[in-house]
Amino acid sequence: MPRQHTQFVCQQCGGRYPQGYGRCPSCNAWDSLVETIERPAPPRNGTARVASSGAAPLALADVQSAEYQRLQLPLEEFNRVLGGGVVPGSLVLLGGEPGIGKSTLLLQVSNLAANHCGPVLYVTGEESAQQVKLRADRLGSISRELYILAETDVDAIIEQTERTRPAMVVVDSIQTMQTADLNSPAGAVGQVREATARLTRLAKNSGIAVFLVGHVTKEGNIAGPKTLEHMVDTVLYLEGDRFHAYRLLRSVKNRFGATHEVGVFDMREDGLSEVTNPSAMFLSERETQAAGSVVAVTLEGSRPLLVELQALVTPTHFGLPRRTTTGFDMNRLVLLAAVISKRAGLPLATQDIYVNVVGGMKLTEPASDLATVMAITSSLCDVPITEFAIIGEVGLGGEVRSVNHIRQRINEARKLGLERCLIPRRNLRDAEERATGGVIGVETVREALDVTGCLRR
Ligand code: TYD
Ligand code: MG
Repeated sequence: MPRQHTQFVCQQCGGRYPQGYGRCPSCNAWDSLVETIERPAPPRNGTARVASSGAAPLALADVQSAEYQRLQLPLEEFNRVLGGGVVPGSLVLLGGEPGIGKSTLLLQVSNLAANHCGPVLYVTGEESAQQVKLRADRLGSISRELYILAETDVDAIIEQTERTRPAMVVVDSIQTMQTADLNSPAGAVGQVREATARLTRLAKNSGIAVFLVGHVTKEGNIAGPKTLEHMVDTVLYLEGDRFHAYRLLRSVKNRFGATHEVGVFDMREDGLSEVTNPSAMFLSERETQAAGSVVAVTLEGSRPLLVELQALVTPTHFGLPRRTTTGFDMNRLVLLAAVISKRAGLPLATQDIYVNVVGGMKLTEPASDLATVMAITSSLCDVPITEFAIIGEVGLGGEVRSVNHIRQRINEARKLGLERCLIPRRNLRDAEERATGGVIGVETVREALDVTGCLRR
């Protein structure tokens, strides 16, 4: 078959060249040329109109709502993140750092789907079939309906898929895929984009669900083009800390469900297992009598999570006081320390402060401000704060500001046996808990310190 004609197109100015350059000759942008297949312009029939699909406008009210027949896997955390199961004909991109467990997760999912929904084709461009088998052996029994193909030619993969018609295809990874129609090496932007476009067509035309694995760059983007994220229906990220076993599967884009849903998994010897009660896991090793340890309630997607937040405050012995954080924003800590000094009158200028979020979790929500303030003062004053779950954003004036989803947060704390919650006073109304006394509303940081007994020392 004759090779298709390709051109190098600048992504900045649209300039077209028969060969690639490191720098665009017309706009001088670096690394902006992407090899692209030249498609012949559609024929025009006398008039200057582009052929239309002939669609007429419809009243939106009359359009039938689509009910997706989702493939249900016996892996609830995974179903939830996808919005209730795998949608046939959808294209799902799974991103994550190397070694985080993308291949493991999708191999497990493939095996489950093969057992429950029909044949699954797992295509690997990174490993040999034997290597995948080695991994699969750790995961337990392998379905007879799980097929493996070690291939990097995307056209061959599409041909195999059309021939065997599986219920689901996994392509691991999209950066190793290439088509012979382009001269660029696998992993080049043009190749990644073209391979994704062809797999999209496959998914839409055949109704087969396609999962793509994408590597993540140092900056945290899926390597290659950001445009990849626009081309697919769903983008998932698998995150976690190498030194901890838990993994978070997060949806950042989903055309078939809510975004920012989170599934929690535990990486074990025999693969990933779902964690149905993550709050209990994060609090399991908490030393309740230790000063400086508090429980914060953070929201991951629509799901509240209880995490242990620790602070250690010690006198500075030399030079400038240190501020060190793990899992918490350093600038936020500096700001909160200033608020404590100024608004509660506690001397922090001569103290080193270390803040640690236990279990490798990251707290990014302002709703964990008050918990951080309480952890710091608890350590400074050497007063343990044992039985509270602490929720609230802190402003520069030392005021405690309201947060969203207060009800869910309080309920999650209750589930874990924390009857007492410290929350913003403005949230009390939504909480409707005044009568029971377990929930205490505070207006300022000072008030919070009073309630927990930190200021009495
Ligand atoms: P992998 O799925 O290969 O990561 P990715 O595809 O994202 O690069 O996961 C590799 C890591 O997972 C590796 O360090 C070994 C570990 N692992 C387990 O802890 N348990 C298991 O059952 C498997 C298969 C892997
Ligand atoms: Mg892998």
